[in-house]
Amino acid sequence: MDSTARANTLVIFGASGDLTQRKLIPALYNLCRKNRLPDNLQIVGMARTPLSHEAFCAKLREGAIAFTNHSFDQAAWEAFCPRVCYFSGDATQPDDMARLNAFLCEREGGAANRLYYLSTAPSLYAPIVANLGALQLCTEREGWRRIVVEKPFGYDLDSARALNAALREVFAEHQIYRIDHYLGKETAQNILFLRFANAIFEPLWNRNYIEYVQITVAEQVDVGHRGDYYDQSGVLRDMFQNHLLQLLALIAMEPPASFEADAVRNETAKVLRAIRPVAPQDTVRAQYEGYRATKGVAPDSQTPTYAALRLYIDNWRWQGVPFYLRSGKALARKTSEVIVRFRRPPHLMFNLPQGRHFGANSLSICIQPDEGIHLKIEAKMPDSYQETRSVDLSFSYRETFGANALPEAYERLLLDALNGDASLFVRSDGIEISWQIIDPILAAWQTPEAPPLVTYPRGSWGPEAADQLLARDGHHWRQDCGA
Ligand code: BG6
Repeated sequence: MDSTARANTLVIFGASGDLTQRKLIPALYNLCRKNRLPDNLQIVGMARTPLSHEAFCAKLREGAIAFTNHSFDQAAWEAFCPRVCYFSGDATQPDDMARLNAFLCEREGGAANRLYYLSTAPSLYAPIVANLGALQLCTEREGWRRIVVEKPFGYDLDSARALNAALREVFAEHQIYRIDHYLGKETAQNILFLRFANAIFEPLWNRNYIEYVQITVAEQVDVGHRGDYYDQSGVLRDMFQNHLLQLLALIAMEPPASFEADAVRNETAKVLRAIRPVAPQDTVRAQYEGYRATKGVAPDSQTPTYAALRLYIDNWRWQGVPFYLRSGKALARKTSEVIVRFRRPPHLMFNLPQGRHFGANSLSICIQPDEGIHLKIEAKMPDSYQETRSVDLSFSYRETFGANALPEAYERLLLDALNGDASLFVRSDGIEISWQIIDPILAAWQTPEAPPLVTYPRGSWGPEAADQLLARDGHHWRQDCGA
Protein backbone atom coordinates (compact mmCIF):
# COMPACT_ATOMS: atom_id res chain seq x y z
CA MET A 1 0.00 0.00 0.00
CA ASP A 2 1.24 3.53 -0.77
CA SER A 3 2.46 4.93 2.53
CA THR A 4 0.76 8.28 1.95
CA ALA A 5 -2.59 6.49 1.76
CA ARG A 6 -1.93 4.62 4.97
CA ALA A 7 -3.18 5.90 8.26
CA ASN A 8 -0.45 7.74 10.16
CA THR A 9 -0.58 7.96 13.92
CA LEU A 10 1.46 10.09 16.23
CA VAL A 11 1.31 8.75 19.78
CA ILE A 12 2.54 11.16 22.44
CA PHE A 13 3.46 9.47 25.72
CA GLY A 14 3.32 11.98 28.57
CA ALA A 15 0.69 14.05 26.77
CA SER A 16 -0.59 15.84 29.86
CA GLY A 17 2.80 17.51 30.36
CA ASP A 18 4.14 20.94 29.54
CA LEU A 19 5.96 20.00 26.36
CA THR A 20 2.80 18.79 24.64
CA GLN A 21 0.91 21.95 25.50
CA ARG A 22 3.72 24.44 24.89
CA LYS A 23 5.58 22.96 21.94
CA LEU A 24 4.20 19.83 20.30
CA ILE A 25 0.57 20.77 19.80
CA PRO A 26 1.27 24.39 18.81
CA ALA A 27 3.75 23.05 16.22
CA LEU A 28 1.29 20.47 14.89
CA TYR A 29 -1.50 23.02 14.77
CA ASN A 30 0.77 25.39 12.81
CA LEU A 31 1.68 22.62 10.39
CA CYS A 32 -2.00 21.82 9.91
CA ARG A 33 -2.77 25.50 9.30
CA LYS A 34 -0.11 25.52 6.60
CA ASN A 35 -1.44 22.28 5.09
CA ARG A 36 1.79 20.47 5.77
CA LEU A 37 0.55 17.54 7.83
CA PRO A 38 -0.23 14.25 6.12
CA ASP A 39 -4.01 14.28 5.47
CA ASN A 40 -4.55 11.12 7.41
CA LEU A 41 -2.50 11.93 10.51
CA GLN A 42 -4.17 11.22 13.85
CA ILE A 43 -2.63 12.42 17.10
CA VAL A 44 -3.22 10.35 20.21
CA GLY A 45 -2.03 11.70 23.55
CA MET A 46 -1.53 9.20 26.33
CA ALA A 47 -0.91 9.97 29.99
CA ARG A 48 -1.85 8.63 33.40
CA THR A 49 -3.92 11.66 34.37
CA PRO A 50 -7.61 10.86 33.96
CA LEU A 51 -8.84 13.54 31.60
CA SER A 52 -11.84 13.74 29.31
CA HIS A 53 -11.17 14.25 25.64
CA GLU A 54 -12.88 17.65 25.88
CA ALA A 55 -10.78 18.77 28.83
CA PHE A 56 -7.63 17.67 27.00
CA CYS A 57 -8.58 19.60 23.89
CA ALA A 58 -9.47 22.70 25.89
CA LYS A 59 -6.03 22.61 27.52
CA LEU A 60 -4.34 22.19 24.15
CA ARG A 61 -6.29 25.07 22.72
CA GLU A 62 -5.06 27.33 25.53
CA GLY A 63 -1.53 26.22 24.66
CA ALA A 64 -2.03 26.95 20.98
CA ILE A 65 -3.28 30.44 21.84
CA ALA A 66 -0.45 31.17 24.24
CA PHE A 67 2.48 29.55 22.47
CA THR A 68 2.14 30.08 18.75
CA ASN A 69 3.99 32.98 17.18
CA HIS A 70 1.04 34.37 15.19
CA SER A 71 -2.52 35.31 15.98
CA PHE A 72 -4.75 32.37 16.84
CA ASP A 73 -7.18 31.26 14.17
CA GLN A 74 -10.27 29.54 15.61
CA ALA A 75 -11.33 28.11 12.24
CA ALA A 76 -7.89 26.57 11.75
CA TRP A 77 -8.06 25.14 15.26
CA GLU A 78 -11.44 23.58 14.53
CA ALA A 79 -9.99 21.97 11.41
CA PHE A 80 -7.05 20.64 13.42
CA CYS A 81 -8.75 19.52 16.63
CA PRO A 82 -10.63 16.46 15.31
CA ARG A 83 -7.27 14.85 14.60
CA VAL A 84 -6.45 14.82 18.32
CA CYS A 85 -7.68 12.53 21.05
CA TYR A 86 -6.71 11.53 24.56
CA PHE A 87 -6.16 8.07 25.96
CA SER A 88 -5.73 7.67 29.68
CA GLY A 89 -3.39 4.91 30.87
CA ASP A 90 0.02 3.98 32.13
CA ALA A 91 2.33 3.25 29.21
CA THR A 92 4.72 1.31 31.44
CA GLN A 93 1.98 -1.28 32.11
CA PRO A 94 1.53 -4.07 29.55
CA ASP A 95 -2.26 -4.13 29.96
CA ASP A 96 -2.60 -0.41 29.37
CA MET A 97 -0.27 -0.56 26.38
CA ALA A 98 -2.34 -3.43 24.93
CA ARG A 99 -5.49 -1.34 25.44
CA LEU A 100 -3.81 1.58 23.70
CA ASN A 101 -2.83 -0.65 20.81
CA ALA A 102 -6.37 -1.95 20.42
CA PHE A 103 -7.62 1.64 20.46
CA LEU A 104 -5.07 2.68 17.81
CA CYS A 105 -5.82 -0.33 15.60
CA GLU A 106 -9.50 0.48 15.65
CA ARG A 107 -8.89 4.09 14.67
CA GLU A 108 -6.37 3.15 12.01
CA GLY A 109 -8.58 0.50 10.47
CA GLY A 110 -5.70 -1.44 8.87
CA ALA A 111 -2.03 -1.07 8.06
CA ALA A 112 -0.65 2.16 9.49
CA ASN A 113 2.53 4.09 10.16
CA ARG A 114 3.25 5.07 13.74
CA LEU A 115 5.45 7.68 15.30
CA TYR A 116 5.85 7.24 19.06
CA TYR A 117 6.95 10.32 20.96
CA LEU A 118 8.51 9.94 24.41
CA SER A 119 7.69 13.08 26.34
CA THR A 120 7.36 11.56 29.81
CA ALA A 121 9.74 11.77 32.76
CA PRO A 122 13.04 10.28 31.49
CA SER A 123 12.88 7.46 34.06
CA LEU A 124 9.90 6.07 32.12
CA TYR A 125 11.63 5.95 28.71
CA ALA A 126 13.19 2.50 29.13
CA PRO A 127 10.07 0.83 30.61
CA ILE A 128 7.84 2.27 27.89
CA VAL A 129 10.25 1.16 25.17
CA ALA A 130 10.46 -2.32 26.71
CA ASN A 131 6.69 -2.46 26.76
CA LEU A 132 6.45 -1.45 23.09
CA GLY A 133 8.95 -4.21 22.37
CA ALA A 134 7.14 -6.85 24.40
CA LEU A 135 3.94 -6.18 22.46
CA GLN A 136 5.84 -6.07 19.16
CA LEU A 137 4.61 -2.56 18.50
CA CYS A 138 7.94 -1.70 16.90
CA THR A 139 7.93 -4.14 13.98
CA GLU A 140 7.62 -2.64 10.54
CA ARG A 141 5.59 -5.35 8.83
CA GLU A 142 2.59 -3.11 8.30
CA GLY A 143 3.96 0.38 7.91
CA TRP A 144 6.90 2.12 9.50
CA ARG A 145 7.48 2.52 13.24
CA ARG A 146 9.62 5.34 14.61
CA ILE A 147 10.31 6.71 18.03
CA VAL A 148 11.25 10.25 19.05
CA VAL A 149 13.14 10.57 22.31
CA GLU A 150 13.03 13.91 24.09
CA LYS A 151 15.91 15.27 26.08
CA PRO A 152 17.44 14.76 28.59
CA PHE A 153 19.02 11.76 26.90
CA GLY A 154 20.69 10.24 29.95
CA TYR A 155 22.21 11.86 32.97
CA ASP A 156 25.78 10.92 32.14
CA LEU A 157 27.63 8.65 29.75
CA ASP A 158 26.64 5.42 31.52
CA SER A 159 22.94 6.23 31.64
CA ALA A 160 22.99 7.47 28.03
CA ARG A 161 24.62 4.20 26.96
CA ALA A 162 22.04 2.25 28.95
CA LEU A 163 19.22 4.18 27.27
CA ASN A 164 20.75 3.65 23.83
CA ALA A 165 21.00 -0.06 24.63
CA ALA A 166 17.38 -0.19 25.83
CA LEU A 167 16.23 1.51 22.62
CA ARG A 168 18.36 -0.72 20.41
CA GLU A 169 16.90 -3.83 22.06
CA VAL A 170 13.59 -2.88 20.52
CA PHE A 171 14.18 -0.42 17.67
CA ALA A 172 16.82 -0.29 14.93
CA GLU A 173 18.90 2.90 14.75
CA HIS A 174 17.03 4.09 11.65
CA GLN A 175 13.82 4.08 13.70
CA ILE A 176 15.22 6.21 16.55
CA TYR A 177 14.99 10.01 16.48
CA ARG A 178 16.81 11.71 19.39
CA ILE A 179 15.64 15.28 19.45
CA ASP A 180 17.65 18.40 20.14
CA HIS A 181 15.30 21.27 19.44
CA TYR A 182 18.22 23.62 18.70
CA LEU A 183 18.77 21.70 15.48
CA GLY A 184 15.18 22.51 14.51
CA LYS A 185 15.84 26.24 14.68
CA GLU A 186 16.08 27.77 11.20
CA THR A 187 18.98 29.91 12.29
CA ALA A 188 20.96 26.91 13.52
CA GLN A 189 20.34 25.05 10.25
CA ASN A 190 21.33 28.17 8.40
CA ILE A 191 24.86 27.85 9.81
CA LEU A 192 25.39 24.99 7.38
CA PHE A 193 23.87 27.01 4.54
CA LEU A 194 25.97 30.04 5.38
CA ARG A 195 29.10 27.93 5.38
CA PHE A 196 28.41 25.60 2.49
CA ALA A 197 26.03 27.44 0.15
CA ASN A 198 28.39 30.41 -0.08
CA ALA A 199 31.88 30.21 -1.45
CA ILE A 200 33.30 33.23 0.38
CA PHE A 201 33.41 31.93 3.95
CA GLU A 202 34.88 28.46 3.70
CA PRO A 203 38.37 29.53 2.55
CA LEU A 204 38.59 31.71 5.70
CA TRP A 205 37.00 29.19 8.05
CA ASN A 206 40.07 27.91 9.81
CA ARG A 207 42.92 28.67 12.19
CA ASN A 208 44.71 30.89 9.67
CA TYR A 209 41.97 33.51 9.62
CA ILE A 210 39.86 32.92 12.71
CA GLU A 211 41.17 34.07 16.06
CA TYR A 212 38.42 32.67 18.24
CA VAL A 213 34.77 31.62 18.32
CA GLN A 214 32.25 32.48 21.03
CA ILE A 215 28.96 30.70 21.58
CA THR A 216 26.52 32.29 23.99
CA VAL A 217 23.14 30.89 24.95
CA ALA A 218 21.89 33.36 27.54
CA GLU A 219 18.46 33.12 29.13
CA GLN A 220 16.70 35.85 31.02
CA VAL A 221 14.34 33.45 32.75
CA ASP A 222 15.37 31.67 35.93
CA VAL A 223 14.62 28.03 36.67
CA GLY A 224 11.01 28.90 37.52
CA HIS A 225 8.92 25.93 38.58
CA ARG A 226 11.47 23.38 37.35
CA GLY A 227 13.60 23.42 40.53
CA ASP A 228 13.26 19.67 41.15
CA TYR A 229 14.54 18.74 37.73
CA TYR A 230 17.06 21.51 37.40
CA ASP A 231 18.78 21.01 40.73
CA GLN A 232 19.62 17.44 39.71
CA SER A 233 20.74 18.57 36.30
CA GLY A 234 22.47 21.95 36.23
CA VAL A 235 23.52 23.96 33.24
CA LEU A 236 26.09 21.56 31.79
CA ARG A 237 23.59 18.73 31.45
CA ASP A 238 20.67 20.98 30.62
CA MET A 239 22.30 23.12 27.91
CA PHE A 240 25.90 22.20 27.08
CA GLN A 241 25.73 18.45 26.53
CA ASN A 242 23.11 19.04 23.86
CA HIS A 243 22.41 22.52 22.52
CA LEU A 244 25.81 24.20 22.85
CA LEU A 245 27.78 21.22 21.59
CA GLN A 246 25.43 20.84 18.63
CA LEU A 247 25.90 24.52 17.74
CA LEU A 248 29.64 24.05 18.07
CA ALA A 249 29.51 21.06 15.74
CA LEU A 250 27.61 23.06 13.09
CA ILE A 251 30.23 25.80 13.24
CA ALA A 252 33.27 23.55 13.33
CA MET A 253 32.44 20.42 11.31
CA GLU A 254 34.07 19.55 8.03
CA PRO A 255 31.82 19.90 4.95
CA PRO A 256 29.58 16.84 4.69
CA ALA A 257 29.39 15.41 1.17
CA SER A 258 25.59 15.68 1.22
CA PHE A 259 22.75 16.83 3.45
CA GLU A 260 21.85 13.23 4.04
CA ALA A 261 21.42 12.13 7.68
CA ASP A 262 24.49 9.96 8.03
CA ALA A 263 26.78 12.28 6.09
CA VAL A 264 25.93 15.15 8.46
CA ARG A 265 26.03 13.00 11.57
CA ASN A 266 29.39 11.45 10.65
CA GLU A 267 30.91 14.94 10.54
CA THR A 268 29.21 15.92 13.80
CA ALA A 269 30.68 12.87 15.51
CA LYS A 270 34.12 13.49 14.02
CA VAL A 271 34.40 17.06 15.22
CA LEU A 272 33.00 16.33 18.68
CA ARG A 273 35.51 13.51 19.02
CA ALA A 274 38.31 15.95 18.28
CA ILE A 275 37.51 18.18 21.27
CA ARG A 276 40.39 18.13 23.72
CA PRO A 277 39.51 17.19 27.32
CA VAL A 278 38.63 20.45 29.04
CA ALA A 279 41.06 21.54 31.76
CA PRO A 280 39.37 22.47 35.08
CA GLN A 281 41.03 25.91 34.95
CA ASP A 282 39.27 26.47 31.61
CA THR A 283 35.87 26.20 33.28
CA VAL A 284 33.74 28.57 35.31
CA ARG A 285 30.67 27.52 37.28
CA ALA A 286 28.27 29.85 38.96
CA GLN A 287 24.84 30.15 40.51
CA TYR A 288 22.56 33.17 40.35
CA GLU A 289 21.83 34.86 43.65
CA GLY A 290 18.63 33.55 45.20
CA TYR A 291 18.65 30.25 43.29
CA ARG A 292 18.74 28.22 46.53
CA ALA A 293 15.43 29.71 47.62
CA THR A 294 13.67 28.11 44.63
CA LYS A 295 11.10 25.40 45.36
CA GLY A 296 12.67 21.99 44.78
CA VAL A 297 16.24 23.26 45.15
CA ALA A 298 18.45 22.11 48.06
CA PRO A 299 19.24 24.94 50.50
CA ASP A 300 22.97 24.19 50.12
CA SER A 301 22.77 23.34 46.41
CA GLN A 302 26.06 23.30 44.49
CA THR A 303 24.26 23.11 41.14
CA PRO A 304 25.53 25.68 38.65
CA THR A 305 22.99 27.72 36.73
CA TYR A 306 25.77 29.25 34.62
CA ALA A 307 28.92 27.86 33.08
CA ALA A 308 31.62 29.08 30.77
CA LEU A 309 34.21 26.89 29.08
CA ARG A 310 37.26 27.35 26.92
CA LEU A 311 37.54 24.45 24.48
CA TYR A 312 40.04 23.44 21.84
CA ILE A 313 39.48 21.21 18.86
CA ASP A 314 42.50 19.11 18.07
CA ASN A 315 42.35 18.84 14.32
CA TRP A 316 44.05 20.46 11.34
CA ARG A 317 41.44 23.16 10.84
CA TRP A 318 41.10 24.40 14.40
CA GLN A 319 44.42 23.79 16.13
CA GLY A 320 45.05 26.58 18.65
CA VAL A 321 41.73 28.41 18.11
CA PRO A 322 39.85 28.86 21.40
CA PHE A 323 36.12 28.20 21.43
CA TYR A 324 34.50 30.05 24.33
CA LEU A 325 31.09 28.70 25.34
CA ARG A 326 28.78 30.13 27.96
CA SER A 327 25.21 29.65 29.03
CA GLY A 328 23.18 30.60 32.05
CA LYS A 329 19.83 31.47 33.50
CA ALA A 330 18.65 34.77 35.04
CA LEU A 331 21.01 36.74 32.81
CA ALA A 332 20.60 40.26 31.44
CA ARG A 333 18.59 39.22 28.39
CA LYS A 334 17.78 36.29 26.17
CA THR A 335 20.20 35.87 23.33
CA SER A 336 21.71 32.91 21.53
CA GLU A 337 24.56 33.87 19.27
CA VAL A 338 27.75 32.66 17.71
CA ILE A 339 30.55 35.10 17.12
CA VAL A 340 33.35 34.24 14.76
CA ARG A 341 36.18 36.65 15.25
CA PHE A 342 38.69 36.99 12.44
CA ARG A 343 42.34 37.88 12.78
CA ARG A 344 43.46 41.46 12.24
CA PRO A 345 45.20 42.43 9.01
CA PRO A 346 48.85 41.39 9.16
CA HIS A 347 50.16 44.86 8.34
CA LEU A 348 48.72 48.31 8.92
CA MET A 349 49.40 50.72 6.11
CA PHE A 350 47.24 53.43 7.67
CA ASN A 351 48.49 55.81 10.33
CA LEU A 352 45.85 55.62 13.00
CA PRO A 353 45.87 58.15 15.82
CA GLN A 354 48.11 57.15 18.75
CA GLY A 355 46.72 54.23 20.74
CA ARG A 356 44.01 53.36 18.17
CA HIS A 357 43.85 50.14 16.23
CA PHE A 358 41.38 48.54 13.90
CA GLY A 359 38.54 46.49 15.20
CA ALA A 360 38.88 42.94 13.89
CA ASN A 361 36.22 41.67 11.50
CA SER A 362 33.64 39.49 13.11
CA LEU A 363 30.68 37.52 11.93
CA SER A 364 27.79 37.34 14.37
CA ILE A 365 25.24 34.64 13.81
CA CYS A 366 22.15 35.53 15.79
CA ILE A 367 20.24 32.36 16.55
CA GLN A 368 17.49 34.09 18.57
CA PRO A 369 15.57 36.19 19.35
CA ASP A 370 16.78 38.81 16.86
CA GLU A 371 17.51 36.29 14.12
CA GLY A 372 20.03 37.35 11.54
CA ILE A 373 23.66 37.63 10.56
CA HIS A 374 25.96 40.62 10.89
CA LEU A 375 29.40 41.04 9.46
CA LYS A 376 31.49 43.76 11.06
CA ILE A 377 33.93 45.41 8.71
CA GLU A 378 36.12 48.46 8.99
CA ALA A 379 35.10 51.48 6.91
CA LYS A 380 36.81 54.78 6.36
CA MET A 381 35.08 57.58 8.23
CA PRO A 382 33.78 60.06 5.66
CA ASP A 383 35.75 63.24 5.46
CA SER A 384 38.54 61.95 7.67
CA TYR A 385 42.08 61.46 6.50
CA GLN A 386 42.57 57.86 7.56
CA GLU A 387 40.16 57.18 10.40
CA THR A 388 38.06 54.04 10.39
CA ARG A 389 35.01 52.78 12.17
CA SER A 390 33.46 49.33 12.48
CA VAL A 391 30.24 49.11 10.46
CA ASP A 392 27.72 46.37 10.04
CA LEU A 393 26.69 44.44 6.93
CA SER A 394 23.41 43.05 8.15
CA PHE A 395 20.86 40.44 7.30
CA SER A 396 17.71 40.22 9.39
CA TYR A 397 15.24 37.38 8.94
CA ARG A 398 12.34 39.64 9.88
CA GLU A 399 13.24 42.37 7.42
CA THR A 400 14.01 39.98 4.59
CA PHE A 401 11.42 37.27 5.03
CA GLY A 402 8.71 38.94 7.16
CA ALA A 403 7.81 38.90 10.83
CA ASN A 404 6.26 35.43 10.93
CA ALA A 405 8.53 33.66 8.49
CA LEU A 406 10.41 31.62 11.05
CA PRO A 407 8.69 28.40 12.03
CA GLU A 408 8.99 26.93 15.49
CA ALA A 409 11.80 24.40 15.84
CA TYR A 410 9.35 21.60 16.62
CA GLU A 411 7.46 22.11 13.37
CA ARG A 412 10.46 21.15 11.31
CA LEU A 413 11.50 18.31 13.58
CA LEU A 414 8.07 16.71 13.81
CA LEU A 415 7.66 16.91 10.07
CA ASP A 416 11.11 15.42 9.50
CA ALA A 417 10.36 12.54 11.85
CA LEU A 418 7.07 11.90 10.04
CA ASN A 419 8.91 12.01 6.71
CA GLY A 420 11.74 9.76 7.90
CA ASP A 421 14.50 12.35 7.64
CA ALA A 422 16.90 12.04 10.57
CA SER A 423 19.49 14.64 9.45
CA LEU A 424 18.51 17.01 12.26
CA PHE A 425 18.36 14.34 14.95
CA VAL A 426 21.25 13.11 17.03
CA ARG A 427 22.69 9.68 16.42
CA SER A 428 23.65 7.39 19.30
CA ASP A 429 27.38 8.04 18.90
CA GLY A 430 26.80 11.82 18.89
CA ILE A 431 25.01 11.57 22.23
CA GLU A 432 27.69 9.40 23.78
CA ILE A 433 30.58 11.55 22.57
CA SER A 434 29.00 14.66 24.02
CA TRP A 435 28.65 12.97 27.41
CA GLN A 436 32.31 11.97 27.12
CA ILE A 437 33.09 15.70 26.92
CA ILE A 438 30.77 16.74 29.75
CA ASP A 439 31.27 13.93 32.29
CA PRO A 440 34.95 14.69 33.05
CA ILE A 441 34.10 18.35 33.67
CA LEU A 442 31.36 17.35 36.09
CA ALA A 443 33.76 14.93 37.78
CA ALA A 444 36.49 17.59 38.02
CA TRP A 445 33.99 19.91 39.69
CA GLN A 446 33.75 17.40 42.54
CA THR A 447 37.51 17.60 43.25
CA PRO A 448 39.62 20.11 45.23
CA GLU A 449 41.10 21.44 41.94
CA ALA A 450 37.66 22.56 40.86
CA PRO A 451 37.10 26.26 40.31
CA PRO A 452 34.95 27.55 43.17
CA LEU A 453 31.22 27.82 42.63
CA VAL A 454 30.69 31.58 42.51
CA THR A 455 27.48 33.59 42.45
CA TYR A 456 26.29 36.25 40.06
CA PRO A 457 23.55 38.85 40.37
CA ARG A 458 20.31 38.20 38.54
CA GLY A 459 20.06 40.30 35.45
CA SER A 460 23.84 40.47 34.97
CA TRP A 461 25.97 38.86 32.26
CA GLY A 462 27.30 36.27 34.70
CA PRO A 463 30.23 36.13 37.12
CA GLU A 464 33.47 38.04 36.88
CA ALA A 465 35.32 34.74 36.71
CA ALA A 466 33.88 34.24 33.21
CA ASP A 467 35.28 37.61 32.13
CA GLN A 468 38.65 36.63 33.56
CA LEU A 469 38.60 33.38 31.60
CA LEU A 470 38.69 35.43 28.39
CA ALA A 471 40.80 38.28 29.75
CA ARG A 472 43.67 35.78 30.16
CA ASP A 473 43.72 35.54 26.35
CA GLY A 474 43.23 39.29 25.90
CA HIS A 475 39.58 38.87 24.85
CA HIS A 476 36.17 39.70 26.22
CA TRP A 477 32.65 38.35 25.85
CA ARG A 478 30.60 39.99 23.17
CA GLN A 479 26.86 40.34 22.79
CA ASP A 480 26.50 41.58 19.25
CA CYS A 481 22.98 40.41 18.49
CA GLY A 482 20.02 42.59 19.31
CA ALA A 483 22.25 44.91 21.35
C1 BG6 B 1 15.76 23.34 27.15
C2 BG6 B 1 16.26 23.47 28.57
O1 BG6 B 1 16.34 22.24 26.53
O2 BG6 B 1 16.11 24.51 26.43
C3 BG6 B 1 15.69 24.71 29.22
O3 BG6 B 1 15.85 22.32 29.31
C4 BG6 B 1 15.96 25.92 28.38
O4 BG6 B 1 16.23 24.89 30.52
C5 BG6 B 1 15.53 25.69 26.94
O5 BG6 B 1 15.23 27.01 28.94
C6 BG6 B 1 16.00 26.83 26.05
O6 BG6 B 1 15.40 26.71 24.79
P1 BG6 B 1 15.14 27.98 23.88
O7 BG6 B 1 14.63 27.41 22.60
O8 BG6 B 1 14.13 28.83 24.62
O9 BG6 B 1 16.46 28.67 23.76
